[in-house]
Amino acid sequence: MKVGVLISGRGSNLKALIDACASPGFPAEIVLVISNKADAGGLQIAKGAGIATRVISHKDYDSREAFDRVMDQALRDAGVEFVCSAGFMRILSDEFVEKWRDRQLNIHPSLLPSFKGLNVYARAIEAGCKVSGCTVHFVRAAMDEGPIVAQAAVPILEGDTPETLAARILEAEHRIYPEALRLVAEGRVRIVDERTVIG
Ligand code: GRF
Repeated sequence: MKVGVLISGRGSNLKALIDACASPGFPAEIVLVISNKADAGGLQIAKGAGIATRVISHKDYDSREAFDRVMDQALRDAGVEFVCSAGFMRILSDEFVEKWRDRQLNIHPSLLPSFKGLNVYARAIEAGCKVSGCTVHFVRAAMDEGPIVAQAAVPILEGDTPETLAARILEAEHRIYPEALRLVAEGRVRIVDERTVIG
């Protein structure tokens, strides 16, 4: 399965996906990495792995739709069949989401449906949660919503700061995103009534 990855920054989840795709028999291949930011660290990671990259700045377009159409075209030109958002910090238009419906995953650093949006680590600590975690889900029009493919629970420890919790959750992200992509690429994930059934 030919995969395109959308990023905006550091790219550690991209790296985890690249490493997984390099393992023998992995059923997916990353053919394009798109960043909306020219200085995203993930671009160097992709280049280092010999993967094609594109910088498409949202600032060059008048509307979200116009920006998304250019991304969509770049993905299609590269033969992409499936999209993984990995720290892509733009809200996608309904049009883009529908074009890639059931063919796009996202990773979010909380146990959805808890703590959608930003500042998730501080909010989980502030709420006194004893566990948080991460979620890989299919993308729907509403932010951080969509059928869940994989989750990992991560303990919140006494004295955790948003930074220490983020680092612990990130390790789990790097484990479950490749696992989720593998399941999807193997055709083992069905969506039934907006929930996944994994066979
Ligand atoms: C991750 O925590 C991811 O869950 C969130 O943004 C962060 C991206 O980190 N959506 P990286 O760029 O993959 O290192």
